[in-house]
Amino acid sequence: MSVPIGNDQLQDALTPRLELIEERLRDAVAQSDRLADATSRHLVDAGGKRLRPMLVLLASQLGDGSRPEVLDAAVVCELTHLATLYHDDVMDSAPTRRGAPSAHEVWGNSVAILTGDLLFARASVVVAGLGPEAVRLQATTFERLCLGQLHETVGPAEDDDPVEHYIQVLADKTGSLVAMSARFGAMFAGCAPTIVKQVTQYGELAGVAFQLADDVLDIRSDTEVSGKTPGTDLREGVDTMPTLLLRRRIAAGPGPEVSAEQHAADLALLADIDGDLTSDEALASVVDRLRVHPVVDQTAALAHDWSRQAIVAIDGLPAGEVKDALVAFAEALVARAA
Ligand code: IPE
Ligand code: IPE
Ligand code: MG
Ligand code: MG
Repeated sequence: MSVPIGNDQLQDALTPRLELIEERLRDAVAQSDRLADATSRHLVDAGGKRLRPMLVLLASQLGDGSRPEVLDAAVVCELTHLATLYHDDVMDSAPTRRGAPSAHEVWGNSVAILTGDLLFARASVVVAGLGPEAVRLQATTFERLCLGQLHETVGPAEDDDPVEHYIQVLADKTGSLVAMSARFGAMFAGCAPTIVKQVTQYGELAGVAFQLADDVLDIRSDTEVSGKTPGTDLREGVDTMPTLLLRRRIAAGPGPEVSAEQHAADLALLADIDGDLTSDEALASVVDRLRVHPVVDQTAALAHDWSRQAIVAIDGLPAGEVKDALVAFAEALVARAA
């Protein structure tokens, strides 16, 4: 399962490099300890879209994409991502990931957390080979990932706008690493600073778009397609864009856009969202009502807006198939089903 870039020739040209990255990833997570080896391989083997390595490769095509550092840079990005998934699934009590039981379901929370740490350690080993600038960038990205997760957990302060706070969370927890992927690709391919700057901004914005699309998928997609359990955030009481927009809509009260009946239905829905969602029936009822709710369409529209902004950010790149592929990639991130 990969993200289409609308150019079969370029895709085919990158495939052998993606396969090399795959090999290196597996080597990078291997452990001599049998348990650590099994837990570390668990999510690599389960699959995933590998969109961060793909973005490293795509951005590298703006320069000399054949440089060996590009492959290591892609491995660093995916390892960092993988590590966050182990930790995130513990925090979100997510039962499945990449179509497999999440690591904490199999081995418990402590092992899952430690496995995430092992993967961060391995990412550090690989990034050390790329020099101090890469180490610094990976560390600041890691910091933003943690802060994004932290701010999501604690929620907005009283005087914060909840939607703005949430966008900042998305930029930190997802945009930061997508930006780093694009940046590493261009940087290690020897691109000029103006190119590196544009693709970094592109990645940051595309990452937010991607995560907004994820909020839609969390409600609309089936487990068989996404490999995740729908409604996980709702059950955990974590607000995402659809529920934030619902709260805002309710606070605005009935009016020309929202009839009194719709307002009453919104209030009932929100009461259920904030209520006890431990039973599968209660969760399914909330997910079913949200699936057809305008706030989910609005979230999808926002995802498209951010994707368009990402495309604007690379306006100054030289015209050609790589720029076109980056445009297609940003569009595919929000059009995806999983
Ligand atoms: C999942 O990322 C976490 C988010 C930032 C939404 P992906 O959707 O890229 O997950 P994989 O790598 O394909 O499993
Ligand atoms: C994924 O975030 C973890 C990071 C981006 C660091 P989410 O919790 O929103 O994503 P999924 O739905 O579990 O993949
Ligand atoms: Mg999660
Ligand atoms: Mg999470």
